[in-house]
Formats: sequence, structure tokens, C-alpha cells
Amino acid sequence: MTLTLAPKTARDRLILALDVPNVDAAKRAVEATDGAVGVYKVGLQLVFAGGLPFAEELALSGHRVFLDVKLLDIDNTVAHAVQSIMAMGMTFVTLHAYPKAIRAAIEAKSLAGRGGGAGPCLLGVTVLTSMDDGDLADAGYAVGARELVLKRARDARAAGLDGLVCSPQEVAAVREAVGAGMVLVTPGIRPAGDAAGDQKRIMTPRDAIRAGSDYLVIGRPIMAAANPRAAAERIVEEMAGA
Ligand code: C5P
Repeated sequence: MTLTLAPKTARDRLILALDVPNVDAAKRAVEATDGAVGVYKVGLQLVFAGGLPFAEELALSGHRVFLDVKLLDIDNTVAHAVQSIMAMGMTFVTLHAYPKAIRAAIEAKSLAGRGGGAGPCLLGVTVLTSMDDGDLADAGYAVGARELVLKRARDARAAGLDGLVCSPQEVAAVREAVGAGMVLVTPGIRPAGDAAGDQKRIMTPRDAIRAGSDYLVIGRPIMAAANPRAAAERIVEEMAGA
């Protein structure tokens, strides 16, 4: 794995999804949770609202940043995107776990890495946690979510990818399929009693850690809480007890 800082504490393993409409709201969320979470995730909503310079600033100020851009394009474009991202100081970057995109990203990272710096941990998104078998059938896939997740996980492992994003309900099977070397990150986490929202394959923080997740991505259960810091601390406590 390429992480210079492997997770040591439960807090290191908590990734907060900054799913907010603008940089001011993101700054407020960071201020409200600073020290209570390990990594901040900047995703598509914020990327299109000033999120890229913000993500770089956040990394420069010493935070670990997860750029959730779920890259997928022709090989040449994926490779150049990865080369551009290499200069941003990100800790994690996502791409869809399609074999060609994975190979292009790994090659670009290793070429750019020769100039110094290990680059971000590249995470392949197996199947979005909002998708179930019916949604996959709708999208034209003839396989179920579990089967597709395992196929993509094995292919990613064979290609030498750093890690994977998968549903907590599949993480135990994925770990078995890929072994100990890959970083496994799971969104779709809901503390008991929280609303699922659009997530379909969910699990509690405790169960996700027990099932083999290295990192948990959590958005709404913290961001929508009356006291986000207290919500994050409760989740970290639950993770530590797992
Ligand atoms: O609010 P919630 O906890 O559902 O947020 C989960 C976050 O994880 C969102 O930012 C979403 O884009 C991201 N994610 C996901 N499923 C994946 C990959 C990323 O939910 N497979």
C-alpha cells in the first residue's frame, strides 16, 4: 500500500464525506469536526463548486484528503487525470474499477512517481453502494451486485491496485478474495437507528470494522447531526469497541 500513514487509531479510519454545496459550508464542517475524524472526502458536489483548490489547501494545512472523483474514461484520459492529481497532495483518489481504467491509472502513477512522491492510494469503486441487483439489471448488467463486486475486486487485485471501495455487506467476501494487501474502504454506514437515505447495502460502524473494513466513509449521519463533532466521536467510540 502507498499510504505513508497507515491507520493507527479508530479516528484515523473515519472518513467524513464533505457532501456540501460550497467551500464555505465545507470549511465550517472541517472546523466543526477538526481532530474528530481522520480524513476529509471531497466528492463531486464540492468538486464542481470550488472543491479542487479547497482540497489542495486542506492537504497543505496537514489534513488527509480523499478526492472522490470516480474516474472513468479512455485510458489516455484516465492516465493524464492521474498525473494531474499526483501534484495535489491527496491521500486517496477513486476510480471506477474497470480493468482498463485501473491499468492506465496504475501505470500513470508509477511513471509520475519516478519524479518523487509515492502519490495517492488509488481506490477502485467496485459497485456503488446505492445499487442493488435490480438497479444493475436496469443498467444492462446480467450479473448481481455481489458477483460483480467480487469479479472487479479480483481483477483489481491482479492488476496491482492499492485498494477498493465496496459495501460493508460485501467487505468480508472481498477481503477473502483479495487478501490482506489491499486497503478496503466502505461507505453505506449507518449507526443503528439512522435513516438509510438512498444507500441500499448498509451496516453499522461496529459491524463494518468487524467485517474487515480498513476505513469507513460516513456523510449524512455526521454532516446532518445537530452536533457533528459529537456524532463523529460517538462513531469513533463504536469503531474502537469493535
Ligand atoms: O451520506 P452518506 O454516508 O451516504 O455518504 C456516503 C458517501 O460515500 C457519499 O459521498 C457517496 O458519494 C460515497 N460513496 C458511496 N458508495 C460508493 C462510493 C462512494 O456511497 N460505492
